[in-house]
Amino acid sequence: MDKLVIKGKKRLSGSVRVSGSKNATLPIMAACLLTDQPCRIKNIPELSDIKTMASLLAALGTKVEINGKEILIKANDDIGFEAPYEIVSQMRASYYVLGPLLARFGQAKVSLPGGCAIGPRPVDLHLKGMEHLGAQINIEHGYINARASKLTGTEMTLEGIKGPSVGATANVMMAAAKAKGNTVITGAACEPEVVDLANFLGAMGAKIEGAGTPLIKIHGVNELSGCEYEPIPDRIEAGTLAIAAAITGSEIEITGLRLDHMKAVIEQLETMGCKVNAQNDSLRISLARRPAPTEIFTAPYPGFPTDLQAQFMALLTLSTGTSVITENIFEARFLHALELNRMGAKISIKGNSAVIEGVDKLSGAQVMASDLRASAALVLAGLAAEGETEVSRIYHLDRGYENLDVKLAKLGAAIQRVQDE
Ligand code: EPZ
Repeated sequence: MDKLVIKGKKRLSGSVRVSGSKNATLPIMAACLLTDQPCRIKNIPELSDIKTMASLLAALGTKVEINGKEILIKANDDIGFEAPYEIVSQMRASYYVLGPLLARFGQAKVSLPGGCAIGPRPVDLHLKGMEHLGAQINIEHGYINARASKLTGTEMTLEGIKGPSVGATANVMMAAAKAKGNTVITGAACEPEVVDLANFLGAMGAKIEGAGTPLIKIHGVNELSGCEYEPIPDRIEAGTLAIAAAITGSEIEITGLRLDHMKAVIEQLETMGCKVNAQNDSLRISLARRPAPTEIFTAPYPGFPTDLQAQFMALLTLSTGTSVITENIFEARFLHALELNRMGAKISIKGNSAVIEGVDKLSGAQVMASDLRASAALVLAGLAAEGETEVSRIYHLDRGYENLDVKLAKLGAAIQRVQDE
């Protein structure tokens, strides 16, 4: 297993380009199951969740060719329809194959994902959506068995007790794209990744209106075709890099991003005293003093993203006062707080809120990554800490960031990947 060894307090400088979005690319890859024609996806991020999705598609019998940053996917008529536990248990986003398999073949058998380090992650809204479209669902031996002779469009709400669901909205959109008649989703997720999937499906010939709003209309079509597509840039990676600059008191340029996807994040960075100079597809960010304290509530898009909560917490450990972060999407997503405390942070958790009393320094320590974004938070803290930080279990980081260590090293960080004995 690899670990990252970071010598803190190095200033960063220069320019870094954001990779393609993991969370946009994953459902797009699954959507390729909707046609027997080849789909070419460009500028895919090279990270392990993408490889896991490629393995899952290949395990179904799909032809998958990865060539650097391009992937070609061709799902012939004779592919299988079972997503096995061995793969689904590695990555929850595997359940994105449910909707496309059901729509194309009238059946899907997908392992239930099971536990997750960031707290309970039910799939009831995905199942509800498929049932509304006419599927019969049975849960047996840890698998979701879904069958439908023909999916039929209908009206449904996908808003759960925690608000809209990105995954359920995407799954239903893919299934409904090939259903008979019209589907109306209310309470739909508005995340840019949902819009990107709708654009991809549109490029395949689907008829979808309203993506990016809580009301999406899908006019089912009989056939979808292959296409070429480039997913959106990764807004969470962009935010993580911005914090790398802020936490080290540096100035860097981040290029290749979509500023319109980052409004809530930029607003928070400015509240904390960062200077953000945004232009077209890039931003220059700097922070010349300790960050000001702030209050953050995670919320569905366009609110502040839960996927940047841990990284902002790392930055707020060094602020000049007391901050509060309230996690409204995944209430138990705070495992990083205890590791940050081992580096000298003062964070206490009260229910779904973290109270962060700013300290004037962090000190390097051996820390352990517990999930993807928590790992990123520990790396960021390591960049700012005095002395050496070792972040172990960084396979979590590699699931969702393309060469974050290499990108940071190019900006001047003293960060090294070494093999853990
Ligand atoms: C997506 O997960 C992302 N994953 C997550 O990113 C992200 O944190 C999350 O959206 C929220 O933005 C991918 O895109 C692969 P949800 P998803 O369904 O779709 C509840 C990362 O670090 N819910 O929008 O699984 C759920 O428990 C990952 O990159 C139900 O109650 O999230 C949560 O409270 C982690 N029933 C809320 O809805 C359901 O059937 C939002 O979850 C589904 C979800």
